[in-house]
Amino acid sequence: MEKNILEHIAIIMDGNGRWALSRGLPRTAGHKKGAEVLLEISKAAKQMGVKYLTVYAFSTENWKRSKDEVDTLMGLLRQYLSKDFNELVSQGIRVRFIGERDMLPSDILEKMGELEEKTKDNLQATLQVALSYGSRAEIVQAVKGVASKIKNGDMSIKEIDEKTFADMLYTKDIPDPDILIRTSGEQRLSNFLLWQLAYAEFFFVDTYWPDFTGEELKQIIEKYQKRDRRYGKN
Ligand code: IPE
Ligand code: IPE
Ligand code: MG
Repeated sequence: MEKNILEHIAIIMDGNGRWALSRGLPRTAGHKKGAEVLLEISKAAKQMGVKYLTVYAFSTENWKRSKDEVDTLMGLLRQYLSKDFNELVSQGIRVRFIGERDMLPSDILEKMGELEEKTKDNLQATLQVALSYGSRAEIVQAVKGVASKIKNGDMSIKEIDEKTFADMLYTKDIPDPDILIRTSGEQRLSNFLLWQLAYAEFFFVDTYWPDFTGEELKQIIEKYQKRDRRYGKN
């Protein structure tokens, strides 16, 4: 049987809060474990030959959570960007961030830029982290980009097509995901990659993100290879 192309996996890392509550711990303990699992899964995906991994870490809607939770999440992010994510540098993984950067604190933005710069030549595997990300906002921003190109005379209406439009999205230069995984039993997109997931295979698993393992990822990949796709065969 021909194999399905597998270059890119997208994951909605959900269930940190419920994982913690089910153990009698504060929600933030779940976020902490969740960040560790992200490092593990990034390494595992690279070992399995996955070229691109995109993870939903924080949505534009997540800004509406309690100030306490948002502050803790930003604190964890700060800590991971300064220390733990350096492991990705030594693992040879390129890191990119997508989302509305303006909403993030400036010291975090600076660290994000540094990590992107330090890892930019790692071409074997890319980890794309969606932070302060919302897909509708991304699409609206792309529409504005196209409109201003036309206004400036840099593009004609005839030139608007799927390719030129996709080039205005944060994800330009990265192929669309082949697989979408959402953990924790929820079955919705929560404003994640609406354009890019047009043809992805969806996998919803009950595992809370902090319990997700490389072994479970491997099983999903095996199931994906058994699905019959009309599009995207090698
Ligand atoms: C996902 O876990 C991580 C973030 C959204 C930051 P949640 O925090 O949504 O955990 P649940 O869904 O409440 O269990
Ligand atoms: C989606 O999860 C965003 C992330 C995993 C970062 P949420 O838990 O925030 O989504 P909803 O609110 O349940 O749709
Ligand atoms: Mg959730």
